Amino acid sequence: MNTFEKHILITGGAGFIGSHVVRLFVNNYPQYKIINLDLLTYAGNLANISDIETKSNYAFVKCDIRDKVALAKVFEEYAISDVIHLAAESHVDRSISGPLDFITTNIVGTANLLDVARTTWKADNHIFYHVSTDEVYGSLGTEGFFTETTAYDPRSPYSASKASSDHIVRAYGHTYKMNIKLSNCSNNYGSHQFPEKLIPLMINNIKEGKPLPVYGTGVNVRDWLWVNDHARAIDTIFHKGKINETYNVGGWNELTNIKLVHLLCEIMDDRLGREKGTSAKQITFVQDRAGHDMRYAIDATKIKDDLGWEPSIQFEEGLNRTVDWYLANDTWVKEITSGNYQDYYKKHYG
Ligand code: NAD
Ligand code: DAU
Repeated sequence: MNTFEKHILITGGAGFIGSHVVRLFVNNYPQYKIINLDLLTYAGNLANISDIETKSNYAFVKCDIRDKVALAKVFEEYAISDVIHLAAESHVDRSISGPLDFITTNIVGTANLLDVARTTWKADNHIFYHVSTDEVYGSLGTEGFFTETTAYDPRSPYSASKASSDHIVRAYGHTYKMNIKLSNCSNNYGSHQFPEKLIPLMINNIKEGKPLPVYGTGVNVRDWLWVNDHARAIDTIFHKGKINETYNVGGWNELTNIKLVHLLCEIMDDRLGREKGTSAKQITFVQDRAGHDMRYAIDATKIKDDLGWEPSIQFEEGLNRTVDWYLANDTWVKEITSGNYQDYYKKHYG
């Protein structure tokens, strides 16, 4: 029987970012057992990690982080030594139409995990790493960046729920002397992202000849980071980050939404053999998101200077690779965009 150095619980490992983190840990650290805990909500998909499901250092557990009794059983059964927590309700628009799921999963679920860890762990070498978002800092004007000391100012039910969970994680670290780590990251893009988020939604709609719904006038700015680089940052922070520290993770890569959509249209014109400018004709300006944050931009100096992490690829290359992944994985897209996705799409976009 294998003995493993650590038994790491990764929550949300069937989702977009979580699947990349699970894959990286399973493939790069055969000395660890990776336990992927996920409820498989609409956003969780075992197809995202089918390539590693038979590895001997991997296990999947279907479990709801809102169920503390079930979590305690998982900790006991797998002798969990460390946690990397990504499970969450993650889509801002859904948090506007239905905020309560965000409160229960993101706040209560995180508190459940922390409390099971607190009451189970006896030694002082366990790590509880919480993966969070830059949205906790609120919205920037045209100048400045979010740093690790920027005051919290969450403005959507999603960001408020993530801010609450960050506070609870820090409170457990401070009060119970648990070894906690946090990171707050900017917008991720890449393969396996659920097509409710801007980039995969636009790729899919361009391909299908549907309108490209840009909120407001498209001037809002996001800082985009390739998901594999976020997974590398999580690996770096888990192994080299200091206890009780927070690291901001970003791509130094700001774009207005409209510029990004035009870029996608150009790449898709090329891939689909369309005349230049064809896909851009599908752009439609629609009603703005309620309380839409204007600009996010991360200052990722600390993680570069202290831990040596920085993004590995340029945005255009990452975007081209992302488009190619979606075009090559039509079955994945079709399976995900049938059924409930159609209801969500109709309700949200009319
Ligand atoms: P996602 O929506 O793609 O995946 C979330 C995963 O959590 C899914 O697999 C889902 O099944 C699972 N989940 C949801 N509720 C659960 C519950 N009650 N119990 C167990 N599992 C549950 O999200 P993502 O975009 O991969 O984001 C992952 C994490 O990273 C989140 O915590 C998010 O706040 C954070 N984050 C995301 C981004 C981004 O750009 N997507 C940026 C910074 C931080
Ligand atoms: O900053 C990190 C956050 O990035 C993560 O914490 C969230 O989990 C993740 O969903 C993401 O939040 P955003 O709201 O920034 O991402 P989204 O892809 O939903 O939207 C990106 C921008 O595009 C935003 O300004 C809204 C706009 N948008 C989005 C959609 C879905 C549109 O104009 N049209 C759309 O149809």
